[in-house]
Amino acid sequence: MATIAIIGGTGLTNMPGLTVHHREMVKTEYGAPSSPLIHGELNGHSVIFLARHGRRHTIPPHMVNYRANLMALKEVGVSHVIALAAVGGISDDCQERTIVIPDQIIDYTHDRAHTFYGAKNDTFRHIDFSEPYCPVIRKRLIEACNTASVNHVSSGVYGATQGPRLETAAEIRRMENDGCTIVGMTGMPEAALAREIDMQYACCGMVVNRAAGKVSTGIDFSQLEGVLKESVELIRVVLEETLKLEFE
Ligand code: HPA
Repeated sequence: MATIAIIGGTGLTNMPGLTVHHREMVKTEYGAPSSPLIHGELNGHSVIFLARHGRRHTIPPHMVNYRANLMALKEVGVSHVIALAAVGGISDDCQERTIVIPDQIIDYTHDRAHTFYGAKNDTFRHIDFSEPYCPVIRKRLIEACNTASVNHVSSGVYGATQGPRLETAAEIRRMENDGCTIVGMTGMPEAALAREIDMQYACCGMVVNRAAGKVSTGIDFSQLEGVLKESVELIRVVLEETLKLEFE
C-alpha cells in the first residue's frame, strides 16, 4: 500500500484539515529535515506532512536541506510524495488561483546539494529523468481537480530558480522562450533527489502571482498574501479528493 507524504511550501507550514496523530523528529545522515514529520489524517486518509520551509517559515528556498527532507521521508517508509509549491504564472493560462500540475522541469538553480551521490568510493547511477514527475500521482491530482471543479492546468514546465529574490522581467522572458510556464524556487533538486531514491513524486503548484514583467504594476506582495490563503483552501480540497484515489 502506498504511504503518502505531502511537502508543504510557502503558506503551508501547517496542513489545514489535518488531524495530527504524532510528530516525529528524524535525523538522517544528511542532517535534520526542515521540520518534524507530522503523522496524521486528512479526511480519514493517512498522510505524513513535512513543512519545507520549517515550522515558522524560516528556511529560504536555497537553504532547504532537500536531501535530509527526502531521506527522512524515505526512512519512515514514504513511497509517494505530493510536493506543494506556490509559483508564479508565466503562460497566459497560469493566472492567480490556478492549480498547475506540471509535467516537466527546467532547472536554473545552482550551488545546492543536488544529489545523494558523491561521497568517496560511493557507487552511483545515472537516473532517467526524461519524465521528472510520477504519472500516476499527476493523474490522480488532475482527477481530483476535475472532481472538485477546481480551476487547473494539467501540464506545464516548472522553471526552478535560485531565489530568494524574485526574477527580473528579462529572466522571465528568457524562461518563457525556454518553454517554462510557471516559476518557483523549490522544485529542484527536490524532484531529482526523490527519483534517485526511488520515491514517486509529483508537484501540485498554486499560482499566487503573475511572474515578473507580466503585469505592469509589478508584483504586489499585499495582494499575494490574500491569493495564497485562497489557494491553500483550493489545495486542501484537491488533496482531500486526491487521497480518496488509488495510488498503486
Ligand atoms: N518566482 C519564483 N518563485 C515564486 C514566484 C515567482 O514569481 N511566486 C511564487 N514563488
